[in-house]
Amino acid sequence: MRDAQLTINRSALLHNLRQVKLAAPHAKILAMVKADGYGHGALVVAETLSPHVDALGVAFLEEALALRMAGIRCPIAILEGVFSSDELAAALSAQCYLVVHQVEQIALLQDYQGTLTTRVWLKVDSGMHRLGFSPQAAIAAYHQLQSFPAVKEIILTSHFACADDLLSPKTQQQIEVMEQLAQVLPPLAQSLANSAGILAWPQTHQQWVRPGIMLYGSSPFAAITADELNLQPVMTLRSRLIATQSVAAGETVGYGGTWLATQDTLLGVVAMGYGDGYPRHIGGDTCVLINGQRVNIVGRVSMDMMTVDITNIRAKRGDEVLLWGEGLSADEVATSANTISYELFCQATARANRIII
Ligand SMILES: Cc1ncc(COP(=O)(O)O)c(C=O)c1O
Repeated sequence: MRDAQLTINRSALLHNLRQVKLAAPHAKILAMVKADGYGHGALVVAETLSPHVDALGVAFLEEALALRMAGIRCPIAILEGVFSSDELAAALSAQCYLVVHQVEQIALLQDYQGTLTTRVWLKVDSGMHRLGFSPQAAIAAYHQLQSFPAVKEIILTSHFACADDLLSPKTQQQIEVMEQLAQVLPPLAQSLANSAGILAWPQTHQQWVRPGIMLYGSSPFAAITADELNLQPVMTLRSRLIATQSVAAGETVGYGGTWLATQDTLLGVVAMGYGDGYPRHIGGDTCVLINGQRVNIVGRVSMDMMTVDITNIRAKRGDEVLLWGEGLSADEVATSANTISYELFCQATARANRIII
């Protein structure tokens, strides 16, 4: 049997949640479990976190309903809101919180004839320019929403574009937009901070924080490692060497012959490829760990396999290979692949055996 394994470590998840609570001790927590729990498995993440958080965050209704059907009872916020009266009825029956970011969603709540109620997260576009009402439009939206019987609380929410960049003036500008808006509205709970906001912008914590990537053990910052933030990797991707191969100096390796052996080289063939979600486009310095030793991936990553240079280490067929996780951060691999760990996690396919510990 192919021995590729993707381990999800629940105690690391809880450890990272404790770091959220240490950083933002007074805020309620909406833990992001959208996109299948950032690829970790929304159900296992929700089961692990829901006794300890105030709500879970998903992108759309179906993600919320899947968690409800699996027995998750914690409040669930739908970040993109609902798009039809049927979706609204289903979301309210499933006791979901709704983000409202456009006038059509206000109209749906206005037309709602049922007796269920919810908390509405009124989304303000404070500068990200993706979803949300302009501050001016948010004032009007607030006054409409607060008159609807279905709306039992309104929480002001906004999302930061650049909170991971500590030198960017953008976050302070967004904070000021929200402060000005708050001055012309009655006192409302607010939710602004993602992981970067939680860790680096304490003035944004407000009443609700929305951690995502830090729960999964990655750093939201390019220049600060997860270790330095005392975060632990939740996902570890492992496989094994299924073959070794001697290659003479002057030979090329893999598809396209992109890697040239400049000396006689011993290669290890790892049962892991882009079919498992490992990125195909990686830099020449990308490493794996074999028996605790870092070695370089050489040649192109193929669908089921990759080759690594084991000339200078002790390694043999059958040895375990760690692709990312405990001992080699997904952030490091992501940087080599010119992406972010969020994407690596979301792309990990169901091909590797999932093990929950
Ligand atoms: C609206 C919103 N809030 C919070 C988060 C969590 O962000 P992070 O994973 O960077 O903590 C996201 C993630 O994309 C989001 O879209």
